[in-house]
Amino acid sequence: MTNRLESREKVTGAARYAFEYPLQDAAYLSAVQAHTGRGEIVSVDTESARRLPGVLAVLSCENAPRLEEQSNGELAVFQSRTVSYRGQVIAAVVAETLETAREAARLVHVEYAPEDPDVLLRRDHPGLYKPEQVNAGLAPDTELGDPDRAFDGAAVRVDVTYTTPAEHNNPMEPHTTTAHWNEDGTLTLYESTQGPSPHQQVLAQIFGLDREQVRVVSTHVGGGFGSKGTPRPNAVLAAMAAREVGRPVKFAVPRRQMFATTGYRTPTIQRMRLGADPDGRLTAIMHDVVEQTSTVQEFAEQTAAPTRVMYQAVNRRTTHRVVRLDVPTPSWMRAPGETPGMYALESAMDEVAVAAGVDPVELRVRNDADREPESGLPFSSRNLVACLEEGADRFGWEGRDPTPGVRRVGRKLLGTGVAAATYPARRNPGQATARAEQDGTFTVRIAASDIGTGARTALALIAAETLKADLGRVRMEVGDSSFPTASVAGGSSGTASWGTAVVRACETLLGRLNGAVPPEGIEASADTTDELKAAEEYARHGFGAHFAEVEVDMDTGEIRVPRMLGVFAVGRIINPVTARSQFIGGMTMGIGMALMEESIMDAEFGDYLNRDLAQYHVPSCADVRDIDAMWVEESDPHLNPMGSKGIGEIGIVGAAAAVGNAVAHACGVRVRDLPITPAKLLPHL
Ligand code: MOS
Repeated sequence: MTNRLESREKVTGAARYAFEYPLQDAAYLSAVQAHTGRGEIVSVDTESARRLPGVLAVLSCENAPRLEEQSNGELAVFQSRTVSYRGQVIAAVVAETLETAREAARLVHVEYAPEDPDVLLRRDHPGLYKPEQVNAGLAPDTELGDPDRAFDGAAVRVDVTYTTPAEHNNPMEPHTTTAHWNEDGTLTLYESTQGPSPHQQVLAQIFGLDREQVRVVSTHVGGGFGSKGTPRPNAVLAAMAAREVGRPVKFAVPRRQMFATTGYRTPTIQRMRLGADPDGRLTAIMHDVVEQTSTVQEFAEQTAAPTRVMYQAVNRRTTHRVVRLDVPTPSWMRAPGETPGMYALESAMDEVAVAAGVDPVELRVRNDADREPESGLPFSSRNLVACLEEGADRFGWEGRDPTPGVRRVGRKLLGTGVAAATYPARRNPGQATARAEQDGTFTVRIAASDIGTGARTALALIAAETLKADLGRVRMEVGDSSFPTASVAGGSSGTASWGTAVVRACETLLGRLNGAVPPEGIEASADTTDELKAAEEYARHGFGAHFAEVEVDMDTGEIRVPRMLGVFAVGRIINPVTARSQFIGGMTMGIGMALMEESIMDAEFGDYLNRDLAQYHVPSCADVRDIDAMWVEESDPHLNPMGSKGIGEIGIVGAAAAVGNAVAHACGVRVRDLPITPAKLLPHL
């Protein structure tokens, strides 16, 4: 149990975030967003904005410098007159103070040639198409056996459609850049990012620089959840503006502007068809997904991916269809794909359990797979059943009456639900260095990003263990692209990827330590590219089980979650205290997804109507009561030197389904459209 190494810095305010670097002569940026949902910019009138004392520059498509072409269309800031969605950044003001910048931004007047935006996702949208691939490089469609026939002939059939809304990440620290061009023409970015190295690469490309000419510093990051996994327009804006005015420029995206400019989880429409024999053994699984992307860039989420991993059945199909709408481009949000996909699959599994009269824990045990169902690969380890059994035991599942609506305390209906979780155990190549200093300490460096997960601490523990040194002798340095290149803190791959590089660097260093360390120290480095290429083929995934209890108020439809337990099988846990925090954080987000979170598209004008945390509801302390997470022992030799699987995302996967299943059990009403609000529930109570 090791508390975060930077916890003292954080609680005393000494930890510096991107906005807080004290640069001489810093100027401030404020962004102007499009007021039309689609169209062309006819003119940008900056006259009155420029007249305001303290305004240094106004940038837009009319005067912005050309940027190099880059694959992420959202980063082509001011490169055309086309407005692709309402809320898109179309101009920016730089001023001596933030207040002046904001006031001047208000005075920028833009004339448009507007067109009607097409912003609503629907399952019969004529623009739906099959993407070449979905995220994580997966095939959009898969098919094995004859799922239609098997489904038609099944004794138990569930044919249901689940819908999930757009959801927005809301890290406490907004997306922030402090940009500074140095005298030698190089660029320094103090940036709130999940990946200093990839961020460096992309920004260098956009500004036509060599990678080494850009330095990205992200020593401390106040959350990301995926939304800081790829650079956002704020970085380009700040860098462009800083060059324009010849001064450092700071830009923290105001929360009101985050909803349109920093990405969100695509809404989904998911048709689930599950066929089973009378004992609940699945004979057919069909998962058909409809989701959205933008006209700026294709982002096709791999929503049905977990269905390819979870349960045994000979006949199966998964499909993804996307439509380009006049909306901001969807992006990464904690367990993209797995989260909405497992909500649908695990909710539908509950419906199979009810239809077949099989206990929902037992149903999942019966359908457990001994190989990855669609690839046929052996699992490196799969302990879903152990999670279900351990969880059922701890939660007190035994003796549960499956009849809905029978447990009542006063005017409250009580119910319990279960759902499984899964998330891939990924690993990306990267580098690290380890140095022995003359004073007996060690310095380990890698361009990883600790976005609040405890990554720095986990890596220090891994280094100390490898070096056989006390933790206090290890200086772990992350969050700077000038350190050895590292992959993004994404896909729950951080600890596994970076940890491998750290172990190898430390091992090499140990081999070179022989007697006294010279004044300049001894350094060793590692690159894991070859090691990862040589890894054997296995299906590597973490698994878990969520158990939730809910109370439904019969008069108001209000839903409370008095109790929730998650049990996970994710290899070796490196640091229990921060691991638990990751799990219960994910589960808390699952409660939010089940009951509260929803971004509402303005059907007429475009853009999301939610602009703050008063309108976008997330769970607060009062909503999260007895929540706990634990893990089963799992020893897996096919992963990495630590034997660990990623834990940042699996906590949210399936969590919303467990809550929804508990609601259905409590009151016998199955709401298949998230979030499950009192307004949706009450008419049926
Ligand atoms: Mo995570 S949504 O892969 O950063």
